[in-house]
Amino acid sequence: MSKQAILKLDDKEYTFDTIEGVENEKAVDFRTLRSVSGYISYDEGYGNTGSCQSEITYIDGEVGILRYRGIPIDQLAEKSDFIDSAYLIIYGELPSEEQRISFSKELIKNTNIDTRMIRQFESFPAGAHPMSILTSMMGSLSSYYPELSTNDRALDLENFDRSAASAISKVMTVAALSHRISHGLPVNYPKKGFGFAENFLHLMFSNPHDEYHAPKEVAEALDLILLLHADHEQNCSTSTVRMVASSGANLFASITAGICALWGPLHGGANMAVIKMLEEIHAEGDDGSRFIEQAKSGTSGKRLMGFGHRVYKNFDPRAKIIGQACERLFAVLGVDDPCLDIARNLEQAALKDDYFISRNLYPNVDFYSGIMMRAIGIPLDMFTVMFAIGRMSGWVANWHEVATQPKGKINRPRQIYQGPALRDYVPMDQRG
Ligand code: CMC
Repeated sequence: MSKQAILKLDDKEYTFDTIEGVENEKAVDFRTLRSVSGYISYDEGYGNTGSCQSEITYIDGEVGILRYRGIPIDQLAEKSDFIDSAYLIIYGELPSEEQRISFSKELIKNTNIDTRMIRQFESFPAGAHPMSILTSMMGSLSSYYPELSTNDRALDLENFDRSAASAISKVMTVAALSHRISHGLPVNYPKKGFGFAENFLHLMFSNPHDEYHAPKEVAEALDLILLLHADHEQNCSTSTVRMVASSGANLFASITAGICALWGPLHGGANMAVIKMLEEIHAEGDDGSRFIEQAKSGTSGKRLMGFGHRVYKNFDPRAKIIGQACERLFAVLGVDDPCLDIARNLEQAALKDDYFISRNLYPNVDFYSGIMMRAIGIPLDMFTVMFAIGRMSGWVANWHEVATQPKGKINRPRQIYQGPALRDYVPMDQRG
């Protein structure tokens, strides 16, 4: 029998079951709290709330652990690739050779988009933000592929393999087209025989009569960025996907909501914010030391972007991997970017500074991913879009987990109302 928790409220005692995860994470099961006591639990920001039981990704933020389906992220980064990891995240096991071939075929088959979508692309105003284009275009997939997005759960699950492959492949195509069209560039089409990252780079950078073949190291670096972003437990966008999925919504609707949630600078927008911060520091002739003081002041409105994490309170294992990959890529490409020097200075200074140490603020994955994407040639406004391409497999897996729950409940938190108490309506001629 599981341990029980006793809560004493208004001289009454209530007993609750506890739940233990496979890695000994412990939770008090408060699902009956309101019905038995009239109280709800209050946890703004959900820092202490388990919203689901999941089999996909495990994080222990205190000691910097991240595992996809049990496999440590450093092993996957070293031995696997994005497609392998995406399969693992979605289907629960690493693919056999045969499964890998068939998954890759399904991805390639679904890379192209309905040609009518090109007309929709062309209707966006010049200079529209690629994240805005991405959210609209991914949201409209349901219009072009209604058979994959019926909102009839049984039917949507029957077509899951195709809709999952569509989500992963089409986000890559749509992302690259967002860039091409917002810059008035001719559209490229996916190429057979190219790997996932290679194809994306071709879609982004090929020009008529000048096909872009990414150097091996560049394609590998991008693949690693995607792999490291592929899933991350119940972060803001993934929780959003699950929330939307819980209403019975189809996969395309749910992932689009996730893309919107990712856009914010405290989540997927942080990689962009890091580069803006580094450029600002460089333009002001600072080596980072003045900025650190401003970020610590609490009054400047500045934060050391790419530092801190809601869950990792020791180190972000992705940051370690990407930091080393960044140094390797720069050495191979012979890139000399002053922003990398500033980033190194900031990291060194912050790691010794009591303000950051006492608040457990360490570099997160975005601290170096932006610098790496810049070296690859990805424009700044595409950084969050890149994060969305990587995170798609995690969103898809989480949608599937919600959709296959035997007794799925719509997610519907409560609130504590703090607005005006009951009062009467005031007619217009009596208002002050
Ligand atoms: N620079 C300076 N001070 C900071 C920073 C930072 N980057 N992050 C947190 N703090 C301070 C904050 O001011 C507060 O100080 P005090 O206790 O004196 O009021 C304390 O640390 C706790 O901050 P918090 O905002 O309550 O912490 P949180 O867990 O709610 O926020 C975070 C986590 C990631 C939103 C935050 O650390 C942050 O804004 N970091 C910069 C943005 C960033 O890099 N985001 C990417 C996250 S990784 C990508 C992803 O997985 O989405």
